[in-house]
Amino acid sequence: MRIAICPGSFDPVTNGHLDVIQRAAKLFDRVVVLVATNSEKHPLFTAEERCNLLCRVTADMPQVEVAVYGGLLADYAREIGAAAIVKGLRAMSDFEYEFQMALTNRKLYDGVETVFLTTTAEHMYLSSSLVKEVARLGGDISEFVPPMILQDILDKTERKSAI
Ligand code: PNS
Repeated sequence: MRIAICPGSFDPVTNGHLDVIQRAAKLFDRVVVLVATNSEKHPLFTAEERCNLLCRVTADMPQVEVAVYGGLLADYAREIGAAAIVKGLRAMSDFEYEFQMALTNRKLYDGVETVFLTTTAEHMYLSSSLVKEVARLGGDISEFVPPMILQDILDKTERKSAI
C-alpha cells in the first residue's frame, strides 16, 4: 500500500488543489489530504472548516481521506508510513519555497520523498489568496473553486468584508 500526503493550507481548496489531489490519487493507493499549519499565514477559514470543504469535494474519491495536523509534516509522514509528499508546482515562483521545504522535510525524515506535479496550464495562476481577494471584492470565482463549495466561500468572504 503506497500512501501519499497532499499537504497544504487549503484556505480554501481551489480547482488547482483538486487537480493535484485527483492526479495523486491515480498514482498512489491512498492519499491523505492534510490541512497543516503554515506559520507564515493567517487563515480565513478554521482548520475544521477547511477540512469540511475538502471532505465534501473529495467525497467521490474512495482512496482519498482528509486529516488535520498541527505538528511537523515530516513527523506525520513517519507516523502514517507515507511514501511521498505530493505538491503541485505552479511556476518558477513556487520553486524556491517548495525546494526549501522538500529539503528540510528530507533532513527531518528521509523515509519520505517529495514529489512535484506540475499544475495544468489552466490552473497555473490560481491560488487561495487570489480566490479570497476576488470574492471579497465582488468578482466571479465560479471558475476557480468546485461548485459545491462556492457558496461557503462567498458567505465567508462576505462576512469578512462587512467588518
Ligand atoms: O499551502 P501552503 O501554505 O503552501 O502549505 C505549506 C504547508 C502547510 C504544507 C507547510 O507550511 C507545512 O508543511 N506545514 C507543517 C509544519 C511543518 O512541517 N513545517 C516545516 C516545513 S519544512
